[in-house]
Amino acid sequence: SQAELDEIYTFAVQLGKDAGKMLLEAAMARCSAGRPEEKEHVEKMNAVDLVTQTDEDVESFIKKSIAKRYPSHKFIGEETYSKGASKDYLVDNSPTWIIDPLDGTVNYIHLFPMFCVSIGFVYEHKPTIGVVYAPFMNQLFTACRGRGAWFNETQQLPLMRNPVPPMPANAPSGCVLSCEWGKDRRDLPDGNLFRKVDSFLNLAAERSGRGGKGGMVHGVRSLGSATLDLAYTAMGSFDIWWEGGCWEWDVAAGVCILLEAGGLVTTANPPADPATAPIEEVRLGSRLYLAVRPAGPSEKETGRQSQ
Ligand code: IPD
Repeated sequence: SQAELDEIYTFAVQLGKDAGKMLLEAAMARCSAGRPEEKEHVEKMNAVDLVTQTDEDVESFIKKSIAKRYPSHKFIGEETYSKGASKDYLVDNSPTWIIDPLDGTVNYIHLFPMFCVSIGFVYEHKPTIGVVYAPFMNQLFTACRGRGAWFNETQQLPLMRNPVPPMPANAPSGCVLSCEWGKDRRDLPDGNLFRKVDSFLNLAAERSGRGGKGGMVHGVRSLGSATLDLAYTAMGSFDIWWEGGCWEWDVAAGVCILLEAGGLVTTANPPADPATAPIEEVRLGSRLYLAVRPAGPSEKETGRQSQ
């Protein structure tokens, strides 16, 4: 029921704040300890897939808190999965929490502020609640299905109401494109970031004509946190975000926030020409995601139609 959902949402927001506080305290302790020790993190899949004690402590805190409050709910967490304690990470119809205790682990290790806790709740396959808290910057993004998406609990997302429709007609002209390097360093045909970004830049250049003023991509950003990329797309700051190789915990909370803000997310690769791209519904578990920011105000809202 809606009342139950509201109660779960309130619990999730508080959990996000508490977990974020743990992240910030641990980050500050690292700062005052000087240069982080080499041994503080370990490698998982390869030399860029890292985990710290903080990832594990925060996941265990979140997992215990959920088990105490909602013992029948399913739990999928990045570190629980990596350790092999749970190979069951597929989303089914049950009420399921999908957690990344520390998204942006490399940022955390290097003390770059773009790291956060990401708490997603999925029910009947649908992203239902999303809480993303970046404690270094004190930025909280929250969403509950049917209740909209919020920044710091007071401002509704998107904050940036761009009057230009984002997709498909205008992309990628004049947009800020966000994408991540991921952790796989093999040169996979579908996964090479240079090729993807290059095709976006070339498409924009082609559309604007050589040396033309209009239509160029304004910028390309790579923050190091898939969840925060989605939150900033929901905010309206990024026009498009793309990543290949994401896991459920990288996207569950962010997808809910983006959808509630009115954005779109599809499981496709960036198409050769976004103008002709079909937008399908997102399916968690596909590992490839393309997100598009919310549309701007309608003509009615801007008052343009009466002039
Ligand atoms: C990673 C970050 C990174 C993205 C990877 C994720 P982690 O999560 O979101 O930006 O490129 O695909 O796995 O390891 O920092 O939790």
